[in-house]
Amino acid sequence: MDTALVVGGTRFIGRHLVSDLVENGYDVVIFNRGNHDNPFEDDARVRHVEGDRTDDGALRSANAAVEPDAVFDCVAYKPREVVAATEIFSNADAYVYVSSGAAYGAEEIPKREGITELCPCSDDQLTDDSAESYGPRKAEGDRVVFDAASRGVDAMSVRPTIVYGPHDYTERLDYWIDRVENYDRVVVPGDGTNVWHRAYVEDVATALRLVAEEGEAGTAYNVGDRRALTLEETVHEIADAAGTDVEVVHAGERELAAAGLSGDDFVFYRDYPHLLDTSELAALGWDSTPVGEAMARSVEDHRDADRDGAEHDPGRDAEESVLSILDTL
Ligand SMILES: NC(=O)c1ccc[n+]([C@@H]2O[C@H](COP(=O)([O-])OP(=O)(O)OC[C@H]3O[C@@H](n4cnc5c(N)ncnc54)[C@H](OP(=O)(O)O)[C@@H]3O)[C@@H](O)[C@H]2O)c1
Repeated sequence: MDTALVVGGTRFIGRHLVSDLVENGYDVVIFNRGNHDNPFEDDARVRHVEGDRTDDGALRSANAAVEPDAVFDCVAYKPREVVAATEIFSNADAYVYVSSGAAYGAEEIPKREGITELCPCSDDQLTDDSAESYGPRKAEGDRVVFDAASRGVDAMSVRPTIVYGPHDYTERLDYWIDRVENYDRVVVPGDGTNVWHRAYVEDVATALRLVAEEGEAGTAYNVGDRRALTLEETVHEIADAAGTDVEVVHAGERELAAAGLSGDDFVFYRDYPHLLDTSELAALGWDSTPVGEAMARSVEDHRDADRDGAEHDPGRDAEESVLSILDTL
C-alpha cells in the first residue's frame, strides 16, 4: 500500500496517524473541511483535499482524485456515513473505521471483539447527535463494516478505549495532570482501584496502520494500553512523570456526597471497570508504549500546551471540603 487517505487528520488521533503514515513511507492525503489549523501545511508529503465528509459527492471526488490504497475514517459519527464510505471506497485495499470501546453494550471484564455484545441502535439514535447515543451509533457503524466485508469490501474496525497523549483536545488527562502539578493532596473517588482503560494516542495510530496492512476484513480490533492503570496508579504515574510527589486521598460516596459531589463528577472514574482485551491486535504484531513513557510525553505536551482540563473540574472548593471532612474522621 502506497497512498493513504485520512478522513480528518488535523486534530488528535488523525494527526498522529498522519505522522505515523508519513514515517512509514505512505503518500498521505488528508480530507477535511479546513476549519481547524493544518499542522502539516508545510509538509510536502501530506496533501490536503478540502471537503465535508457528510457530502458523498465530495468523498467520491476525493476517491477519484487520490485513488487511495488505504482509507482511514476518523470522523464517522453516524452509521449512514459508514454506509456511504464503505460503498465509495469499496475498491481500496483497506477501509479502516475508527469506532470506539463505547460500542460495547455489556459490562464484562475484559470486553472482547466478537464475544461481548455491542450496543443496539434504535432508529432515533441512528441520526441523533447526543452523547448518550454515541456508543450505539459507533456500534451500528461496526455492523455496517461487517456487512460491507461480507460483500467483499476490505473493511475493518478499530475500537480505541479513551485515548490520551499529546494534542488531546478533550483535556481529560489534563485535568489530572493539572491537579498533580498544582496540589499536594489529590482527591480520588472510591478506593483508588477503579479502572477505566485508556489508549496512548501514538499506539492508536500504529494500530490503525497495522490493521490496514495486516487486519482481516470484517474484523474489529480493540486498542488499549497493554498495562491498564487504576485511577490511583494513574495519579502516581503522572506525579513520577512530572517529577513531583502527591498524596492520594480516597473519598467514598458518603464523604463526596457531604461536599455535594459523587464519583461521576471525576473524569476517568467509572463504577464498573472498563477493560478491553487487546490480544487480537497484539496478534498482528502490535504493542503499546510503556505507560511511564507515554505519561512522560503527555505531561511534557501538557506543559507546552494551553490546556488545563478545567471543563472536567468538579470544583477545588468542593474537594477541599472533602479533604477537611476526611481530616476530621
Ligand atoms: N478521543 C478519544 O478518546 C476517542 C476514543 C475512541 C474513539 N474515538 C474516535 O476518534 C475519532 C476522532 O478522532 P480525532 O478527532 O482525534 O481525529 P482527527 O482526525 O485528528 O481530527 C478530527 C478531524 O476531522 C475533521 N472533520 C470534522 N468534521 C468533519 C467533516 N464533517 N468532514 C470532514 N472533516 C471533518 C476536522 O477538521 P475540520 O474541522 O477542519 O474539518 C479534523 O481534521 C472519532 O471517530 C471518535 O469517535 C476517540
